[in-house]
This record gives sequence, C-alpha cells and structure tokens, in this order.
Amino acid sequence: MRMRRIPWAAEYLSQSASRVFEPAEKIGRWKEDQPQGRLHLEIGCGKGGYSASMAALYPEDTFAAVEKNESAAGLAAKKFDEAALGNLSLIYGDGAELDQWFKPGEVDVIHLNFSDPWPKKRNAKRRLTAPAFLKQYHDLLSSNGQIVMKTDNPSLFEYSTLAFLAAGFEMEEISVDFRREEHPEDPLTEYEQKFVSQGKPIYRSVWNNGHK
Ligand SMILES: C[S@@+](CC[C@H](N)C(=O)[O-])C[C@H]1O[C@@H](n2cnc3c(N)ncnc32)[C@H](O)[C@@H]1O
Repeated sequence: MRMRRIPWAAEYLSQSASRVFEPAEKIGRWKEDQPQGRLHLEIGCGKGGYSASMAALYPEDTFAAVEKNESAAGLAAKKFDEAALGNLSLIYGDGAELDQWFKPGEVDVIHLNFSDPWPKKRNAKRRLTAPAFLKQYHDLLSSNGQIVMKTDNPSLFEYSTLAFLAAGFEMEEISVDFRREEHPEDPLTEYEQKFVSQGKPIYRSVWNNGHK
C-alpha cells in the first residue's frame, strides 16, 4: 500500500527536535542517558505510533525508530515531537545502514512491524528479514538481544521463519494469532490496528541470537 504524500514532511523533518540528524555521531552512545535500560530499534516505523507508545510504556528504555519514506518519517517526527519523550528519537534513513549508526552489541531489541513483504522473488533482498539484514542484526544485537517480528502476511512470516533459522537465531516465541489474547505490554502499530479491525490474524515471533 502506497503512503500518501505529505507536502510538509520535508520541511518538518528539517527542524524536528526528535530527529537525530547525524546518527553516526551517536554510535556507541545511544544508551548514554539510561545505561541500565535496554536499547530498542524499530526498523520501518511508518507513522511512529508503536515506538511512541512503547517509549511511554517503558520509560527506563531507549527507543530509536528508523524510517526511510519521507512522508512517513515526517508524520513520525511530528508524533514524537508532540509526545516530547526524552527516550525516543527518529532516524530518517535506510535500515540497510544500521552498522554506521550502531556499534556491534549495542542494540537490545529489534522490532520489525508489518515490514513490506516484497512478494516478487526478484525483490526478496529488500525484505527486512533477508539474509543480509539478518547478518547485520546479529552483529548489532547484545548477547541476550532479541528480534520481535509481527506481520499479517503468512508468506513473509514463513520466509522469515526459515531465514531466522538459517541465520542461527533461536526461536523464543511464536504465535499465528497474537491478538487472540490481550497484550497490554505490546501496543498495536498503525497497520496492526487496521488488520485487527478487519479480523485478520497477527503473526508474531521472537528470536534471540543464541549462538553469540
Ligand atoms: C507496511 S509499513 C508498516 C509501518 C509500521 N511499522 C506499522 O506497522 O504501522 C512498512 C514501513 O517500512 C518502511 N521501510 C521499508 N524498508 C525500509 C528500510 N530499509 N529502512 C527504513 N524503513 C523501511 C517503509 O517506508 C514503510 O513506512
């Protein structure tokens, strides 16, 4: 589904207080203000609702959300600025560049929420669970780090499950209907709200980099 173009997004992003303009300068220092908490990284945060809700729910943790689409990033930046939480920031950029912004072992939890499925085989390497991305996540995660994935798309879920296993991750949790029960500890994303209201099941898995 195409994101509607937000005409004010570019200008808003140029002055947003929540945006980290030079993420490479924060490498190794993301948890500086809250060294006891965990560092969460959401890749493809869209309009930012999930990270904003999580940052409010877990104030002792630090949240960085990455989004490469200008319009979505503009909406997320506005949401983050309005929430005015000290533990939440936005990186307007491509998740393929994570290794320039985070040091190996620095990230505690990676969230992949309703990632674009890229159904055509020729586009498979763009999936955020393609082998090159998983290798990057493995390097960036801390020794007990986790990846949490949610999707409405059974084909992407199947592909990703096999890719996680092939990359040596260990499965901790799996559900093919996560919202069958209440999960107040895990807010709904914007896409998730839509799918749940349509009665679609939500697939979710949690992985750790067990062999680190
Ligand atoms: C289907 S939307 C889901 C948005 C949000 N996570 C949600 O659940 O409501 C996927 C988002 O991921 C972003 N995205 C896809 N590939 C990305 C990448 N390599 N780096 C950063 N963002 C990416 C897209 O621009 C889009 O906004």
